[in-house]
Amino acid sequence: MIKFSLNDQPRRVDAASDMPLLWVLRDVLNMTGTKYGCSNAQCGACTVHVDGEPMRACILPASAVAGKHVTTIEGLSQNGHVHPVQKAWMDLQVPQCGYCQSGQIMRVISLLEKSPNPTDQDIDQVLVNMCHCGTYAQIRKAIHAIARQNGGLRTKPAIARPRAAESATAKHATAKRATARRATAKHAAAKHAATRRVSARRTRPASARSARA
Ligand code: FES
Ligand code: FES
Repeated sequence: MIKFSLNDQPRRVDAASDMPLLWVLRDVLNMTGTKYGCSNAQCGACTVHVDGEPMRACILPASAVAGKHVTTIEGLSQNGHVHPVQKAWMDLQVPQCGYCQSGQIMRVISLLEKSPNPTDQDIDQVLVNMCHCGTYAQIRKAIHAIARQNGGLRTKPAIARPRAAESATAKHATAKRATARRATAKHAAAKHAATRRVSARRTRPASARSARA
């Protein structure tokens, strides 16, 4: 039996201690707002807050949240009022398909709680959640709109926790993107070189071609 607070409500769940928190939320508690994407800490679709810190629920064992406060996308609205970040998302029509947006919103709230008026550089550093629809520019616009209208979100997380899990995830995602970029550049260079060879063969004088033959 694992006891924790979920969206300010005490919960007791009968789940294996190594069951990922994501499965506890979705399959045991039927709270499907937190999304399943990659299941290996790559995409960020499963981001929730644990004691105020963004965590990837797909790799977080249920036992790790015993006695802690977990907040999911379902816990953001209060007294019928949507969270300012959710409101900005609606006003600026940030989502496309919407699948990644629960995780994006949880990550952005965490950013704004710590940095109420982030620069583009601050945003780029923490906004490592993937969006296959490419809503990054709109997300950035919404963050700046919140900062302008409300002076950001000044609420401090209830308990500041070390961010080791998140930063390890971010580092891994950055390394993966760098590897992908290198592979793409290598492929493009090889393709370019092949094109040049073909073009050189085509433009070589007939006499030179016959000399080689
Ligand atoms: S589902 Fe957790 S990071 Fe992708
Ligand atoms: S809005 Fe479609 S994946 Fe992000």
